[in-house]
Amino acid sequence: MAEQDEPRRLRDDAETRHFIEQSLNALFAPEDDALRAALEAARAHDMPAIQISPVQGRLLQVLAHACGARKILEIGALAGYSGIWLARALPPSGRLISLEVSEKHAQAARDSLARAGLTDRAEVRVGPAAELLPALAGEAPFDLVFIDADKPGYPTYLDWALRLTRVGSLIVADNCIRGGRPLRGESDDPTIAAIGAYDRRAASDPRLLSVAFPLDDDGMDGFAISVVIAPDAANVSGPSA
Ligand code: DHB
Ligand code: MG
Repeated sequence: MAEQDEPRRLRDDAETRHFIEQSLNALFAPEDDALRAALEAARAHDMPAIQISPVQGRLLQVLAHACGARKILEIGALAGYSGIWLARALPPSGRLISLEVSEKHAQAARDSLARAGLTDRAEVRVGPAAELLPALAGEAPFDLVFIDADKPGYPTYLDWALRLTRVGSLIVADNCIRGGRPLRGESDDPTIAAIGAYDRRAASDPRLLSVAFPLDDDGMDGFAISVVIAPDAANVSGPSA
C-alpha cells in the first residue's frame, strides 16, 4: 500500500467501526425516551459521559435473563442509565438495589428510574458502598451484581459480591481493561492497580469462572464477567485452571 493511503485507511477503519457500533446499537439495543432522558440528566448535572454503551446495557439484560435474575445489586448508579437497563430485565416482582455515593447523583438516578416507570422494583441507596454493602446480607443472595463505581474499591466490591451471591449468580464489572494498563502488571496508580487485582482475582479465584473482553471505547475497555461456581465445578474451566 502506498504510504499516502495510510491516513485514508485509518479514516475508513474509524468510519467502519462507527458504522458497526451505530448499527448494532440500532438493531439490538435501541434507546427509548427514558434512556435518552437519563443521559440528558447526566449532562444536566455535569456528570462525566461514562455510562455503559447501549450494547453493554443489552448484554446486562441478556445475562440477567440467562441467570433468571430476580434480585440485582448495582454498585455505582451515576444518573441511572445502567439501572434502567438492569431493572427492565427483572420481572415485576424483582428488585434492583443500586448503591451511589453521591446524594445528587442518587436523586438523578431515582428520577431516571421513575421516568422509566421502574420505581416499583428499583431503589437507590446513598452512601459509600463499603459502608452500605455489609447491611445487604439480609437481602442476599443477589442473582447478579454489577460493579461500576470508584475503581480503587473494586477488590473490596468483589469480596462483597462473593459474600452476597450464590452458586450460579453473575458478577459483572465495567472498566476492567482500561487501555491495557491493568494487564501490564503492578502499577503505582491506585486505579490501575485495583483493576489489575480485580482481573487477576476474577481469573484465578476457584469460586469464579470468568472472562473479560474488549467491548467499549474502540476495544480499549470492557466488562469482566464471572459466574459463581461450586468448588467441585472448578474443573469445568479446563486443564490449565
Ligand atoms: C470512568 C469510570 C467509569 O465507570 C467508566 O465507565 C469510564 C471512566 C472514570 O472514572 O474515569
Ligand atoms: Mg464504567
